Amino acid sequence: MTKNLHWWQYGVIYQLIVRSFFDTNGDGEGDLPGVINKLDYIQSLGIEAIWLSPIYPSPMAEFGYDVTDYTDIHPLFGTLNDFDALVTQAHDRGIKIILDWIPNHTSDQHPWFMESRSSRDNPKRDWYIWRDPKPDGAPPSNWISVFGGSVWEWSNETDQYYCHTFLKEQPDLNWRNPEVQQAMLDVLRFWLERGVDGFRIDATCLLIKDDQFRDNPPNPDYQPDQAPDKAVLPKYTRDQPTVHDVFAMIRRVVDDYDDRMLAGELYLPIEKVVSYYGKQAPELHLPLNLQLAWSPWNADKLASTIDHYENQLPAEGWPTWTISTHDSTRIASRAQGEQARVAAMLHMTLRGTPTLYYGAEIGMQDVPIAPEQEEDPQGKRTDRSRDPFRTPMQWDNREHAGFTSGQPWLPVAEDFSTVNVAVQHNDPHSLLNLYRRLINLRRCEPTLISGAYISVPRKDPFIAYQRQGGERRLLVVLNLSAEPQNFNIGEGGRHGRILLSTFMNREKEEVHGVVELRGNEGVIIVV
Ligand code: GLC
Repeated sequence: MTKNLHWWQYGVIYQLIVRSFFDTNGDGEGDLPGVINKLDYIQSLGIEAIWLSPIYPSPMAEFGYDVTDYTDIHPLFGTLNDFDALVTQAHDRGIKIILDWIPNHTSDQHPWFMESRSSRDNPKRDWYIWRDPKPDGAPPSNWISVFGGSVWEWSNETDQYYCHTFLKEQPDLNWRNPEVQQAMLDVLRFWLERGVDGFRIDATCLLIKDDQFRDNPPNPDYQPDQAPDKAVLPKYTRDQPTVHDVFAMIRRVVDDYDDRMLAGELYLPIEKVVSYYGKQAPELHLPLNLQLAWSPWNADKLASTIDHYENQLPAEGWPTWTISTHDSTRIASRAQGEQARVAAMLHMTLRGTPTLYYGAEIGMQDVPIAPEQEEDPQGKRTDRSRDPFRTPMQWDNREHAGFTSGQPWLPVAEDFSTVNVAVQHNDPHSLLNLYRRLINLRRCEPTLISGAYISVPRKDPFIAYQRQGGERRLLVVLNLSAEPQNFNIGEGGRHGRILLSTFMNREKEEVHGVVELRGNEGVIIVV
């Protein structure tokens, strides 16, 4: 049943932050040789593809999302030779490599921007978005940066403002300019030629802004605990109609190569997210669905989010599920304790491609960061630091969790001596081994890959759904409470057999009419 599917459909994508994964040279920062070193581990998880956080040269004003050269490697992480070695050695193991591609903005230290800002008649002036003040001297529009303050930064050299959706050190490229388009498409070709299998596109829906620079309307529902840019509705800054032409163009480049993939980050309502599969022409293979990454761990909320997404998907759209990322609280901090096991079963049995964030497989939690150790510019400007979920991977119980022989760039979690790969590897009951069993089950059960998703009647504290392919029917029942609960598996007392439980030793147990679930238990039942 999975025969005609692509790797990005049947596989699990593992998102890792190179800087936090494994350090081989003792500078306290992870590197590409570190990823190579851990490929056996990644393979042992059953992963199909690795998505690497940005690895390009960067002043690191924003965690590498401020690029000074799109076709090279930051010396912190290694060299292009290291990158080539990673691609080769990953491919030898059947693992694909996905790069983070950041088209919306460069670093202000990028040579393109240095030229652009140098004079109004520089050939690269129009590569960025420059505007005069309003007649009253105010900034060109009321647009608000994601990190707070106006998106408009005054430049004394040429007496104009430039636009930056994020930091002022991250000027936005002008995607209406054909030279920008060609330069950025050449970046894609550079990596595609080097064997990269796909891209995760950063800030996808922001690429095109209103060409009249109209003010965004105020958001009447704005709450002070929301991100600063939520104070206005993004009517003229996000998801502008012509952005779809840009992605159709990008897709054509990628389609010149064999079996490559485009995924895109989309902070939009699901109705909008699904439009990025492309209506007139193909756009993204996987418009990333981030709804679960933001959802509280609550059965009703999760179940309605899942059903809503399934209902909105176009017939040809392949689903995808992200439960945590480098921008959201770790799943084990939201689904506490044994619920992390339930979350694992949910994530690995929904219909569609899961992206698994490094450390989720061992239950890494958010790590409190003292103000003097803060690295994230968002954390320095708002109370929404992302450092807590970007801390070093916990490998074993040696100093710094075996991540580095130096001083780690962010602190390691205090619980690392019990929450680490080495300890869990040897424990058949561990979360790590549950992930392995679930991912292995996906490989053996085509129904979990391409079977239909069928919502079944449920009530809090359950999430329940069926996956159905041909005659094979798998019922997934998840108990989101800590109390034992009975779940009726079908009218008329249907029979079933447990295929896998988040606890051990229930496999092959027969179920008649009602399945008794322990607190915090999830089961997959063949019905
Ligand atoms: C995306 C990234 C985020 C980054 C931002 C600016 O949203 O996921 O981490 O801060 O783009 O580049």
